[in-house]
Amino acid sequence: MKNTDTTIAKEEMQGQSNCRTGKFYEDVICGLSSSPKFLSSMYFYDAVGDKLFQDLMACDEYYPTNCELEIFSEKTAEICEAIMGDGDAFDLIELGAGDASKSTYLLKYLLEKGADFSYLPIDISSNTISYLNITLPVTLPNLQMTGLNGEYFDMLKKASVISNKRKVVMFLGSNIGNMPLDVATQFCADVRSHLSAGDMMLIGVDLKKNPATVLAAYNDKEGITKRFNLNMLERINRELGGDFDVSQFEHYPTYDPETGACKSYLISLRDQTVSIQGKSIFFAKDEYIFMEISQKFTVAEIDNMALTASFKPAVHFFDSKHWFTDAIWVAA
Ligand code: TRP
Repeated sequence: MKNTDTTIAKEEMQGQSNCRTGKFYEDVICGLSSSPKFLSSMYFYDAVGDKLFQDLMACDEYYPTNCELEIFSEKTAEICEAIMGDGDAFDLIELGAGDASKSTYLLKYLLEKGADFSYLPIDISSNTISYLNITLPVTLPNLQMTGLNGEYFDMLKKASVISNKRKVVMFLGSNIGNMPLDVATQFCADVRSHLSAGDMMLIGVDLKKNPATVLAAYNDKEGITKRFNLNMLERINRELGGDFDVSQFEHYPTYDPETGACKSYLISLRDQTVSIQGKSIFFAKDEYIFMEISQKFTVAEIDNMALTASFKPAVHFFDSKHWFTDAIWVAA
């Protein structure tokens, strides 16, 4: 899930292969030549995918965005008190800021309280950063901010060069769940390595819940998730001159309550060969393309991940249904 938004998932979020990430064409050919086949979830979010994701967030079954928005709107004061600590100056850094709709609740409150802080949104999309650079100074005139356009870890390094204040790093939207577990834990450890003791991480994570509720969120009745997945094939047709017949692929979501892994696949409905810029790719009938993982956690599993990555779990905030949590971790 994204931050109400359309942020492009970054390379660290893939972790499914040894394919060199970079160019769309190379990644597609690499993923579809692998066994089993996969496509990289960072390519979901072109203009059509952005729009479909907005529609998905508005549909009845897709709960994560609304749950986290509820936490940010209902628990604003508690979250802000926790990150303000003793009142010393800090930088509020957001990884994958998107439209900053959730963080804006915090920014408003912190400004009202006269907190001494700067907001440093990081996003891989230059459009997103220009949008924030233009809109935030209008909605929040007293906000000190520096938008950073680039890869998370490059920009975290840059943030340390800009300022040596205490850091609070936000990573919302259960983006952490879009990495396989080992990659997710390593990601948190990598964030920790850019922090000093006492710095904080505010992380949004989707929780394990009734399996039917999770599965429905990835298999909405209107078929938005299905179109969202198939859009990746259409994007390959549009941008790379592919000739996918999308009617010959079916969306197949799964959720395993034991592991908490929610996965999306596209299934080939017949033996077929697809050509992408002269390169032929064969799909056997019933063969799958792995599209994305959306891992769900228990609170204990989240705490464990924090400890493994050298953080101390401090507070958890929940929505009223306890379907989602935003946790504050302190760098040990
Ligand atoms: N990655 C987001 C999530 O885990 C967005 C998403 C929702 C998604 N449904 C999807 C991505 C289906 C790929 C396939 O919630």
